[in-house]
This record gives sequence, C-alpha cells and structure tokens, in this order.
Amino acid sequence: MAQSPTDYAKEKLAALEARAQRRALQATDRFDSVRVRRCGRELISFCCNDYLNLSAGARVKDAAKAAIDRYGAGAGASRLVTGDHPLLAELECALADLKGAEDAVVFGSGYLANLGIIPTFVGEGDLILVDELAHACINAGAQLSGATVIRFAHNDTGDLERHLREARSAFAHCLILTDGVFSMDGDLAPLPALAALAAEHEAWLMTDDAHGVGVVGGGRGSSFAFGPRVHVPLQMGTLSKALGSYGGYICADREVCNFIRTRARPFIYSTGLPPASAAAALAALKIIGADPALCDVPVQRAAAFCKALNLPTPQSPIVPLILGDERAALAASLALEDAGFLVTAIRPPTVPAGTARLRFTFTAEHDDGDIARLAEKVRELTIPAAAE
Ligand SMILES: Cc1ncc(COP(=O)(O)O)c(C=O)c1O
Repeated sequence: MAQSPTDYAKEKLAALEARAQRRALQATDRFDSVRVRRCGRELISFCCNDYLNLSAGARVKDAAKAAIDRYGAGAGASRLVTGDHPLLAELECALADLKGAEDAVVFGSGYLANLGIIPTFVGEGDLILVDELAHACINAGAQLSGATVIRFAHNDTGDLERHLREARSAFAHCLILTDGVFSMDGDLAPLPALAALAAEHEAWLMTDDAHGVGVVGGGRGSSFAFGPRVHVPLQMGTLSKALGSYGGYICADREVCNFIRTRARPFIYSTGLPPASAAAALAALKIIGADPALCDVPVQRAAAFCKALNLPTPQSPIVPLILGDERAALAASLALEDAGFLVTAIRPPTVPAGTARLRFTFTAEHDDGDIARLAEKVRELTIPAAAE
C-alpha cells in the first residue's frame, strides 16, 4: 500500500531530527519588542526584526485600532474587487515618498510581493542573476518565473560581471536580484557597482530591502546608504520589520506599478492588506520621517556589541556569529536562554550547510547594560569566532 501522509511526515521529521534541523514553534509572549516571556521566564530578546520597537508603540497601535473602528478588521476582498480601502493608496504614497519613487504597490506580505513582482517582469527566455545568499522568497519568485536562474557568488561583482558577459546576450531580459541588507548576515549589497553593471549590460536591478528600511540610509533603506541615492528601478520591501506592521511593497515608476497591479498574481488573487496593518505602517512611516536619528540607533547598538567582542563593525542591526554545526548553534542558543537572552539558532536550509549560527538583532530600545551582559555571556561561551 502507498505510504500515508502521516507515515511520510514521520519519516521526514525523523530524518530532520537526526540532522538537528527539525523546527518547532515555541509560544512566546512579547510584552514589547525587547522583553518576552517563554516557558514562564522573562527573557531579553535579541532576535526580533522590530528594530525601532514600533509594533508596540502607542502611536502605531492607536492608528491600527482607529483603522479597525473605521474600516473593519479585514479588507473583504482582493483590492481589484472591493478590498481597496483608502488607507492603502495613502500608504503607497508614503512609501513612494520615502524611497524617492513615483509610485508603490502594497502586497499581503513581503514573501507574496516577491512571488508576484519577479514573474511579472521575467519568464521563459529571460535570465535571472541572483546573489547566492538572497532570501528564500526571492528564490521562490525566481523559480516561479520560469526564467533561467544563475546564482552569483555573494556580493561578488566580478562573478556577476562574468555571468553577464557570458550569458546575458542569449536572453531577452535580464533581472539582477539581491537583498539590500542580507537577512542572515547583516551586510549590505554593493548597490553602486550592481547598478553600474545593470546599466552596462541592459539588465534590471531589483533589491529586497526588507531589513533596510527604517535602519540604514537614514531610515530610507539601502539605496540611500551609499551617499547620493543609487538608482534601483525595482525596490521591494516589507512592512513587517522596522515598520512594526505586516505586508509587503514595491516602489518603482508609475507605469511599473500599474503593470504590477494588473499582472502580479498575489496582488490580483489574494485579499487586500487589512486596514489595521496599513494604518500601523503609515503611523510608523510618519515616526521615521519625523525622527531620522532614531533610525541610526539599532546599528549603533549592534556596533557596541561587536566592539565588545572584537567583531567587524556591522553595517546593519543584524550580527551573525557563525558556529558551523547545527548542534553547536542550538547549544549556544540554549546557553544564552539560560542566561536570560532569547537568540534563536539559525540553521540550514535558512543558511548554507556548515554555517549554522546565532543571529543577533539589535533594536533602538536595547540598553547598554543588556548589550554588555549579552556580550559577556557570548564571550563566556568560548565561541572561537567571538574571540577572533
Ligand atoms: C530579506 C527578506 N525578504 C522578504 C521577507 C519576507 O517578508 P514578510 O515577512 O513580509 O513576508 C523577509 C522576512 O522574513 C526577509 O528577511
């Protein structure tokens, strides 16, 4: 008899368990963005992407509540049907303003945005060149598109240029895809060089700036982190990290956005973003716009941690400590939890095999004392990389 779904799942779970790659949910109460409770214990979290602590901020929460009162809890339908409540257009204007773009389109999530945008612009007969460490949803969108996909070495513009020279001419369109800030490594993509290569080889450049907005480039994201804005025609991002809400977006020229509204499948065939999420993101954008100095604080906190451990100066609030083996990463995470810190172990396939790690994220509200205690504890774990 054919294997049942249950037996299949059991077999797969056992195999993952044997490789220390099985994942499980753990109920975690977030009191605010820094303090959480897990298994009855209070912990200081250093693994949350709410970099500006806006998800629990009074102005953001009040805006979300008011939107529910005014427009209801859900959007009711796809935006092209009846789900286009007025907050969404307002949010798109605010996002376009932030990014210096003509227009923006909001999606149900960042993941959905990448699944929608990439196949809208490239397909069979086209070429995608994607950084090898790009986020899973960029790769998912690339695969879905049906284009030929080549992965270039991480942040290696020489490797990208080689692929462009060797392969570009055989394809109609070419899309270069990269994270703006790499989600598991915290480094920035070399956007000026990528933009120059895109121009030289008639390719389109698209960034996923999920971890850039609100925390690099004065809060405006990675294309603003290199001095004068680097022209990136397709700037994707999420509302779910520094903006403290939920949803995804792209900022681009008006006609690009109009084309996405009429062709991107997750935009057309999925319910519009809930009003509360749109209102919360709008309130967060106002806070960021009024207080750019706040946006620099998470990187300053990360820098204090790195200095204490002699790690390289961080480019973003994300600091990886690569331990290699899954079990080593899990053990280090447990030891930190015992000491009162929540730092989740990140394991393959989220990161490449052999690079399991602790991924620390810093927020505007972490205080110096907590950071110093965390650094002390990490040092005590006698992790070789920390002592380098
Ligand atoms: C680089 C990157 N892109 C996209 C996403 C997905 O965004 P969302 O959480 O809004 O689906 C994430 C989030 O995990 C991310 O880290």
